[in-house]
Amino acid sequence: MLQFHDGKFTILQVSDAQDMQFVRRTMFWMLRRACDRIKPDLVVFTGDNVLGNHLRDSRFRDNVYDAARERKNLETAIRKLMRPFVRRKLPFAVLYGNHDDRNCVTKEEQAEMYRAYPGCIGLEPGEAGLECDTYNVPILSSDGKRTAFNLWLFDTAGYDREADECYEWITPETVDWYRRKSAELAAENGGKPVPSIVFQHIPSAELSKLVEPCGPKDPGAARGRNGTWWRLKEGVSGILGHHPSALESDGGEFDAFRERGDVLAVVTGHDHGNCFEGEVDGIRLIQTSCASFRCAGGPVRGVRTFTLDEAAGDFSTRMHFYDELCGRGPWARFRWFWDADESERAKARLLRCLAAAAVVIAAAVVILLLT
Ligand SMILES: [Fe+2]
Repeated sequence: MLQFHDGKFTILQVSDAQDMQFVRRTMFWMLRRACDRIKPDLVVFTGDNVLGNHLRDSRFRDNVYDAARERKNLETAIRKLMRPFVRRKLPFAVLYGNHDDRNCVTKEEQAEMYRAYPGCIGLEPGEAGLECDTYNVPILSSDGKRTAFNLWLFDTAGYDREADECYEWITPETVDWYRRKSAELAAENGGKPVPSIVFQHIPSAELSKLVEPCGPKDPGAARGRNGTWWRLKEGVSGILGHHPSALESDGGEFDAFRERGDVLAVVTGHDHGNCFEGEVDGIRLIQTSCASFRCAGGPVRGVRTFTLDEAAGDFSTRMHFYDELCGRGPWARFRWFWDADESERAKARLLRCLAAAAVVIAAAVVILLLT
């Protein structure tokens, strides 16, 4: 069981790591540095951990469907993602995003792959009607006598193999389970709600309450759909990269949170360039940007920490961006340039120039040797 130590507990959130069997090494450099600097008590992966729908791509072969190869690629991608955390013997909890299971490997089969690593918490087969990545993680008090804090992990996305369609929702069954389990935890806590944080991959529409329409030249303006522009409302801190995405349906989770009174915050990923925090009806809504270099993450790439305070029954949180973890020196800049999706065109131009220069130099050397 997880437990507070001297009244504190630190969570490292890694969202949208979305790498593959061929990894972008710079993200792993950043993650290793995050682990060593932060020394978390728990790591929470909040979905799109693997770019599951691209696992059948290959650098060297045709894009031919091969279930055995796809499964092997997924195992390799998960093994590489887990390596920094397993080597440091860190406990970890996983939920899935909209990319994870868009392949021939089901959520349950992926869960078995994660559970093969020491430190994996949850991902056990759940109650009927619940996905295996819907579960809760209790954290015991420093004296080990009570549940002092609780984490909720909710599934928000999946893949219907027969229809070849993705869905993005929280089911009513998930919200019913939350109500029952929340009441159970409160009953064990002398009737008092246990302070909790919800982690889920895709934000609910509630997150849109933190933004407002604006003009394209207003400070902090970010694009929305159909030529609209948006900015963060006053009192909301952070960076808006684009209008928040939202679930098709959140199953009424916020009504349930308000009713139960135990949820301090809802933490989401999915929107790679969004990184902000605000409050709606007394519940903190926290959006975390991506860790991955296999997407256009920009300067908000990083990880987030949560420091839980046992006595206060509350927490503080902040982002740790790449620059903070890896520095701004030439080596850190070069690694960023080499691996980040947004610099791929510039990298291709650089490689073409270097190849042309090598040909010119080789030709000059040959001419000199022959004359
Ligand atoms: Fe996503």
